[in-house]
Amino acid sequence: MIKQSIKKAFSILFILITLMAAGILSVSAAPAKLVVGTSADWPPFEWVDANNNFVGFEMDLMKIIAKMQGLELEIIDIGFDSLIPALQSGKVNLLVAGMSLTEERLAVADASNPYWSGNQGVMVREDSDLNIATALAGGYTVGAQRGTTQADWLEDNLVQKGVNIKSLELYETNDLGILDLVNKRIEVFVADTPAAEAFAKVNPIKIVGTINTEEDYVCYVRKGDPEGILPVINDSLAKLQLTSIWNNLANAYFVGDLNKISECYAKVSAMLEQDVEAYAENLAKCMIDK
Ligand code: ARG
Repeated sequence: MIKQSIKKAFSILFILITLMAAGILSVSAAPAKLVVGTSADWPPFEWVDANNNFVGFEMDLMKIIAKMQGLELEIIDIGFDSLIPALQSGKVNLLVAGMSLTEERLAVADASNPYWSGNQGVMVREDSDLNIATALAGGYTVGAQRGTTQADWLEDNLVQKGVNIKSLELYETNDLGILDLVNKRIEVFVADTPAAEAFAKVNPIKIVGTINTEEDYVCYVRKGDPEGILPVINDSLAKLQLTSIWNNLANAYFVGDLNKISECYAKVSAMLEQDVEAYAENLAKCMIDK
């Protein structure tokens, strides 16, 4: 009797394994942990505050999504141009770095639904006389972050076309590029408009114009999404967009005073553990409060 039921169990198991191997049955994978790769040099989406916390709109979204879904979260700061390799090698399983949706990236990774969009902002020092035309074609040194759509645009449209620039300088991080702009080692720096606006709020620089590339920002996972992460991200984003959490985070980071982030995050971050709605509401209040 016992022998027979063991036999039966084995044959059922065998059938299941055969069906799975043939791809007819599949276990819907759910990730155990989100290991997020980012490039934390891009306020207001991701940067590191004075107390070494990852802060920003995208970082908070990830903390909240992990909480909502009961998933563990680890965030790793990686140079922007090393993000795709880190995904491919399995060092991380999700990229969240304001990455634009591009054909090149879709060839090697899968993307979530878009959740924000932007153009490219052309920055010069506050006291500069340059306008967008002279900045990009007046014989100056122009900078951008390596591996970004800005770097590609400048390479394709200025360098390759023989437009008059002195050189194109590519930086590992936006912070280093902004520093070189402020310190007069370069004359122009290009970054996505939301980040350019944030940089201009806290540095002696200004935006002289935009390049209208209309880019959508998405998260990327490994090609084929073997861990089943995309449905989790897309469902969570769709749900969050209908709540006050989304608006409060947008207010905190796009309207609020970014100089206050360390103070405000220290004040409210404990709420992330129990009540994400209260967290977002109080963060927005603190960041906007004069
Ligand atoms: N949106 C641009 C791109 O996808 C730049 C993103 C830069 N992000 C960052 N976290 N530094 O290439």
